[in-house]
Parts: sequence; C-alpha cells; structure tokens
Amino acid sequence: MYRIAVIPGDGTGPEVVREGLKVLESASRKFNFKYEAKVFDFGGERYLKTGKTLEDKDIEELKSYSAIFLGAIGHPQVKPGILETGVLLKLRFSLDQYINLRPVKLYNSAFCPLKDKKPEDIDFVVVRENSEGLYKGMGEFQNKGTKDEVATQISYNTRKGVERCIRYAFEYTRSRNKKKKLTLCGKTNVLTFAWDLWERVFNEVAKEYTDIQTDYAHVDATTMWFVKNPEWFDVIVTDNMFGDIITDLGAMIQGGMGIAAGGNINPGGVSMFEPIGGSAPKYTGKDVINPLAAICAVGMMLENLGQTQAGKAVEDAVIKVATKKLNSLAAGKMGYSTKQVGDLVEEYL
Ligand code: IPM
Ligand code: MN
Repeated sequence: MYRIAVIPGDGTGPEVVREGLKVLESASRKFNFKYEAKVFDFGGERYLKTGKTLEDKDIEELKSYSAIFLGAIGHPQVKPGILETGVLLKLRFSLDQYINLRPVKLYNSAFCPLKDKKPEDIDFVVVRENSEGLYKGMGEFQNKGTKDEVATQISYNTRKGVERCIRYAFEYTRSRNKKKKLTLCGKTNVLTFAWDLWERVFNEVAKEYTDIQTDYAHVDATTMWFVKNPEWFDVIVTDNMFGDIITDLGAMIQGGMGIAAGGNINPGGVSMFEPIGGSAPKYTGKDVINPLAAICAVGMMLENLGQTQAGKAVEDAVIKVATKKLNSLAAGKMGYSTKQVGDLVEEYL
C-alpha cells in the first residue's frame, strides 16, 4: 500500500494533478497495486489566507508518505520568492531530496524546435544537485541601499554533498544502460574553487566505474551542444544552478514545458515528482493546459516506487498520445482539452 501525498498547489497545478491522479488510478487497476492519496493545500491560496507556507509539523507528516506528487507552486498575488523558498525549496531541502532528476526525451520530432532531430537524437537525463550550491541561500549585503553596496551570493559545495550526487549519477548511468556515458557539466575555467572540488571528486569516483565513459563540458558549451549535438549526451551531472538553467533548455528541445517532468529524489527517503513548468496563471481554469508533464511525473513516481512496469506503461501511453493525437504540446493548441488528453492517456494505458 503506497501512501501518496498530493500537493496540487497553484494556478494550473490542480488541473494537471487531477489528470495525473486519473492515470495513477488506472495504472493501479491494471498493475494491481494499492495506494491511498491525501491532498495537502500548501501554496499561494493558503499563504494568502493564513500567512503560512510550510511548517515543521507539515514536513514531519510528509515524512510518513511513500512519495509526493506536486502540481505547481507560484501565485500572481504573492511576491516572488516567498512560495518558492517557503514551499518548494523547503520541501526539497528538509526532505533532503538531494537529486533533481530531469529526463530530456523527445517523443515526437514534430514538436522539436531543432531542425532534423529525431527521438533517438534527444534522449538524455540531467542529474542536478538539489541541496547545495547557490541555492543554499548564503551571502549578505554590505552597505545596503548606499552607493557602496555590495551583495554576495555564495555557492556552497561540500565534499559529501558533491560526492553523493556524483555517485548517484554514476549508478544511474550504469542502470540506465544506454550509452553508458556520464558528462560533468561545470565551469572549471572560471569558478576555480567549486569546480575544482567537483572535478576532483568526479575523477576519483570514476575510477570505481570503469564501465562508464566520462566526459567534461563547460556549462556554456553544454547549452551549445544541446542545440547542435544533443545526441552526444547520455547522462549529465551538474550543480544546482547550472542544472536549473540547462534543464529549461532541455525542456524546450524535448517539446516544451507541456511534456517536461522531474523528480526530486532522496534515495533513502521521501521523493517528490512534479511537472517542471510553473503554475501558468493565465491558463488557470480554462481546461487548456497540457497535463502530459504531470502524467510523466506520475510515471517517474511509479518507477521510483518500484512499479517499473506501470511507470513504463504510463510513459508508453504518453508517447502514443504525443505521437498519434496531439497537434501541439502547447497550452491551448493541443486540439484537445486538458481533461481529454488525460482521457486519451487512460485509454492507451
Ligand atoms: C525549478 C524551478 C525552481 C528552481 C524555482 C521555482 C524555485 O525553477 O524547479 O527548476 O529554481 O529550482
Ligand atoms: Mn527551474
């Protein structure tokens, strides 16, 4: 019996979560597993009503779940930063979800903005460190508000934090069993403290994985290769900030935010799965948002829970809908409503 904590969140979050849960229900019937889902109202509306984001007792309760399924966090009436740090980043940090796993996979060439790229050309996974780096929130103002103001923002990288992320990436590359190639994406030519540590740890751990081919690319060059030669990549490991940036580009080359999902993984704890697009306030309540990203997040969650076949079946059903049915992956242009797209996935499943 799995216990799934559901956080629909803000904007279009509840609409895509509804479709994701529909598919979860179908998958449970087809693959014979049991689960119970409990909905939590964390997000913008609750914050506006109560002034609360996430409390320690909420975190404690979430620790008793098998996994978390998140819609989107972000509300037009709440100042940027409050919900991001108070809900999303707080969940990632306090549940020690130290890996952000973002598959970049093209399902339908028609939806790829790159000329002549086929599904076999765009199929890689970014392993983003999810607990440290610039996201740690370290830094300060000096002489704030004066002409001599200085603001520092520190990238915090611990040997242990870097090593656990790199080890996860090597293990993941091995079990993915595709090109068996792991690329470290960094900036050793400029950020000479952080990336010196990353590179040393990467080369050290690599010695234990002689079956994995290793490679290095600077982050700026990585964005160039994403566009020019995405077929070079298999698995990429990088820090929190670079991972944030390159995975938005990754989402675009796989067909956009309508299809991009990610997992915030604590390999020994509670992981959280989410469509990586935002809350898209302008589409809220219109039944036009693409739920496939949220459905892919459900697929990733099932795989992570050990329901490998079910996870694969959900992905296969999404591929069918994306290749045989939809006119576009973009909101309002799919040729179907949000609900109809969910129905189609269920039918294929
Ligand atoms: C993401 C998002 C978040 C991040 C924001 C909303 C805090 O952009 O999941 O990539 O920067 O990690
Ligand atoms: Mn991001």
